[in-house]
Amino acid sequence: MRLADRMNLLKTESAFVVLAKASEMERQGRDIIHLEIGDTDFDTPSSIVEEAYAQLKAGKTHYCPSAGVLELREAACEWLSRDGRGDYSPSEIVVGPGGKPFLYYTIMATAGPGDEVIYPDPGFPVYESVALYAGAKPVPLPILEENNFRFTPDDLRERVTDNTRLLILNYPHNPTGGTLTRNELEAIAEIAVENDIIVLSDEVYAHMLFEGEHVSLGTLPGMRERTIMLETFSKTYAMTGWRLGFVAAPTALADPLAQLITNSVSCVPPFIQLAGAKGLLEDQSESRAMMDDFRRRRDIFISGLNEVEGISCQYPDGAFYAFPNVSQIPMSADDFADYLLDEVGVATLPGSAFGVHADKHLRMCFANSVENLERAVDRIADAVKRL
Ligand SMILES: Cc1ncc(COP(=O)(O)O)c(C=O)c1O
Repeated sequence: MRLADRMNLLKTESAFVVLAKASEMERQGRDIIHLEIGDTDFDTPSSIVEEAYAQLKAGKTHYCPSAGVLELREAACEWLSRDGRGDYSPSEIVVGPGGKPFLYYTIMATAGPGDEVIYPDPGFPVYESVALYAGAKPVPLPILEENNFRFTPDDLRERVTDNTRLLILNYPHNPTGGTLTRNELEAIAEIAVENDIIVLSDEVYAHMLFEGEHVSLGTLPGMRERTIMLETFSKTYAMTGWRLGFVAAPTALADPLAQLITNSVSCVPPFIQLAGAKGLLEDQSESRAMMDDFRRRRDIFISGLNEVEGISCQYPDGAFYAFPNVSQIPMSADDFADYLLDEVGVATLPGSAFGVHADKHLRMCFANSVENLERAVDRIADAVKRL
């Protein structure tokens, strides 16, 4: 039996590998604190759940247009416009099963052999994996702690060549929690326009910003026509398991993505889309309360981590991840992550899961109860003492 050669190019997302291992340990009776995966302990707002029931009962259980039902595409336009993130028409919105499929679709639609894709490193692992799978050359853009988890326009300019087709940005950033200011985005926009580069602006943590303002790249001069803005319900509405996300992009970019939906999943179940539309249009207080609580959890967790001998951790500007530096711990970050899981039941991810520039870090998701976060800090401190 022989598979296609390109299957050797695909990598995995370690969060799901560690989740499987930690869940198996739990099944065998171990008490595990899950900080490995980017999910929350909050439930989806009840009005969204009720709407899904109602739409199921109303028979919204058939195929629908690949790009999404009009109700959700209109709601997405209103939602983005309300937040100052651009004025789009429904034909410029494409709905998909979560945010992640659009990373795959966008890279497949824009880059192939001979093309280059610039992406943040450390960064969401799918960027590099799918760029390789597409036959393109992935070009990492380092996001380093010594630069406050930011990159400069010069860092980007140095990596642009005649072959650059796609630039992937992610802000607020998984895993470091860094973000991009308006000035930085303006400088990036200038480079993208000058070099005719398409930009995938992964803004799935836009509502999880603790410092500064979120500026959507597509609102800057010259960027609307070359930006694919990615959003998802997973984080803002605690809907990771529903699989619902969308992009906003000019039709020249949106239509090919819709074509990839037709060729893969056909459409997202319409009752899920209609429930999502309800979530976008109604009062946002439940989602806002979750986002506010993440700030409280961030403060408690990061200050706790900084008390542990050998660990230092910056406060992230956004997203719900701590990215502590563990270089003073007398073992590699990879081994330390294994040690924490095996010895004290705290599941984390090593920075190496996110690229080559983060091998001194661990990533820990703090979208967990304060009680669990405090227990995790105690267990980590105890584990370090035992070394
Ligand atoms: C940066 C980034 N982009 C995209 C996604 C994908 O989101 P979804 O779960 O909606 O597919 C994630 C999920 O963790 C993410 O961290």
